[in-house]
Amino acid sequence: MRFQNDLPVQTAAGNRPMKRHHTARYYAHRVKESLTTRVSKLICAIFLALLFLVGIITFILWLSLRPHRPRFHVREFSIPGLGQANRFANAQIIFNVTSRNSNQNVGFYYDAIHMTVNFNEQSIGGETLALPFYQEPKNTTIFAGILGGYSLKLTANQWRQFTADMSRGVVIFSIELSSTIRFKISTWESKRHRIRATCPVGVGADGSILAIDKDKRCQVYFI
Ligand SMILES: *[C@@H]1O[C@H](CO)[C@@H](O)[C@H](O)[C@H]1NC(C)=O
Ligand SMILES: *[C@@H]1O[C@H](CO)[C@@H](O)[C@H](O)[C@H]1NC(C)=O
Repeated sequence: MRFQNDLPVQTAAGNRPMKRHHTARYYAHRVKESLTTRVSKLICAIFLALLFLVGIITFILWLSLRPHRPRFHVREFSIPGLGQANRFANAQIIFNVTSRNSNQNVGFYYDAIHMTVNFNEQSIGGETLALPFYQEPKNTTIFAGILGGYSLKLTANQWRQFTADMSRGVVIFSIELSSTIRFKISTWESKRHRIRATCPVGVGADGSILAIDKDKRCQVYFI
């Protein structure tokens, strides 16, 4: 600074060196100030970038851990001898229902799963499909069996109603599944949620499930 001021002192007007001196300090100040601004801008940018990164990671975690609800499908449902009056006493329902855990990282702890078959909003039978079990990710569990005897409580009146409905082409039933479920992510377990699945199924004149209802996905509710 001194060196800059030395020369003009001899030549220029009296107040010039003062001005030069002031200008130098002014620039030094400006440089210092812009340095501070740049540093604070940099810190701000780093902070925003970190925030953005954390947001992205959270979003990806949420996407990959977000539990998909269980999926139930009716694969088979038939009542052999439907419409034959003499088959009423030993009627049977053959069923096959599948439950899928489509998650990548989420396991399901089920308590017992109960199935009931309804006709005209009334239960005509049912049974416990499964005792408490753990369903690992990407697993499909098959529940197949036969309702008959004590697990099927058909009245003569209902059987006549089936025959009447059949003459119109279809008898509509509804399969209801109920259980409680806990979600497992790594070592964390959720609390119990009551879950219900409803699957309407139409049965044709041959006593078998209609093609449009086969493999149809059931509605799932948490209650
Ligand atoms: C039930 O349906 C599934 C899927 O269609 C099939 O793989 C399985 O063999 C069936 N089980 C029985 C006992 O019918
Ligand atoms: C799904 O889990 C059930 C019950 O743990 C098991 O019996 C079945 O073999 C599993 N299925 C597959 C495809 O891993």
